[in-house]
Amino acid sequence: MPEKYKIAVIPGDGVGPEVISEGVKILNALSERGFGIDFTFKYFPWGCKFYLERGKMADEDMLAQLKNFDAIYLGAVGSPEVPDHVSLWELLLKIRKGFDQYVNLRPVVLLNGAPCPLKNVKNEDVNMIFVRENAEGEYAGTGEFIKKGGLTEAAHQTGVFTRKGTERVIRYAFDLAREKKMSLTNVSKANALNYSMVFWDTVFNEIKNEYPDIETKTCLVDAACMFMVKDPRRFQVVVTSNLFGDIMTDLGAAIAGGMGLAAGANLNPEKKFPSMFEPIHGSAPDIAGKGIANPIAAIWSVSQMLDHFGRRDLGRFVLRAIESVLTEKKFLTPDIGGASSTSEVGNAIAGYIKSNRL
Ligand code: NAD
Ligand code: IPM
Ligand code: MN
Repeated sequence: MPEKYKIAVIPGDGVGPEVISEGVKILNALSERGFGIDFTFKYFPWGCKFYLERGKMADEDMLAQLKNFDAIYLGAVGSPEVPDHVSLWELLLKIRKGFDQYVNLRPVVLLNGAPCPLKNVKNEDVNMIFVRENAEGEYAGTGEFIKKGGLTEAAHQTGVFTRKGTERVIRYAFDLAREKKMSLTNVSKANALNYSMVFWDTVFNEIKNEYPDIETKTCLVDAACMFMVKDPRRFQVVVTSNLFGDIMTDLGAAIAGGMGLAAGANLNPEKKFPSMFEPIHGSAPDIAGKGIANPIAAIWSVSQMLDHFGRRDLGRFVLRAIESVLTEKKFLTPDIGGASSTSEVGNAIAGYIKSNRL
């Protein structure tokens, strides 16, 4: 009997639904091949359209409705008609925090056939994996507006870095570096952030003593961004805080083929709650509805979902399918120089899966 997985699908806004349907196509293609895996999908209509109709981004009991799924597959959230801090805090960030998805795993890997804006860089030179803290830090959501109006007005936003939250994500990164036989770079900013990042580095240095076999480096975030462009070979596993990880992985996307290719997994490593898989791009209002969004980021996140289910063989197969379409260059969306539609690219990747050996 095939292993059955229940997937909660939240297509969301803008290009979200367009790219998510291609990821579902890939999962269906895999189950049709008889690889011993099968999926059921339940769709949730949450997002900005739901908000404009009902005044809320999702049902109040959203987390209870999602709790018993094996994974959540999310498109994107955000619309020019709804303030971003409302749409994101009531949906995406609520799930990340509510399900303690404290690891955001984001590969920055230049696949064969993917375009790279850097000069003299080979595919193997861009091979990083970001471990972004995903539940607290700068995104703790703590703060206040003070003395509204006038020149004494101010806004406070407080980062919260707990011992538990900092230790567990850094330990995850060390374990990953050990498993992958890679170095680990700690990206920090303790020269200016004299509490949070001093604490972060202290915890990193403590945990480092438990992993004498792992080569480590610490790099300030500003310099790290510069080196990612000038010398990407320096980075293998990277661990960093929530906000730095957010910013650095868009830069990572840019050097590894663009926003249309960058995927991310929001993991609850203990599997106490479902993990969530998504492209790292947003709803892309500038191209939404045109059928030209690149579905590869969403499909790559399906590969991460398969890894999470313990089917790394299938995760690798999906990446091979993506690489085959990228190198063939027959079906590519306009963001990477092609003229194909979202679904033509999805069909080409599904076609590879249907007709090639695992
Ligand atoms: P964005 O990622 O949506 O778009 C940035 C640029 O990348 C745009 O030019 C867009 O066309 C391009 N792009 C993005 N995805 C693409 C794809 N699949 N194929 C081809 N091109 C693609 O970022 P933004 O414009 O800053 O944000 C738009 C909205 O999305 C905002 O409301 C923002 O808050 C939200 N957002 C949501 C998420 C999420 O749900 N995970 C992530 C980032 C931004
Ligand atoms: C991402 C996004 C989110 C983040 C936003 C939409 C809240 O940019 O997933 O990278 O900052 O984490
Ligand atoms: Mn981001």
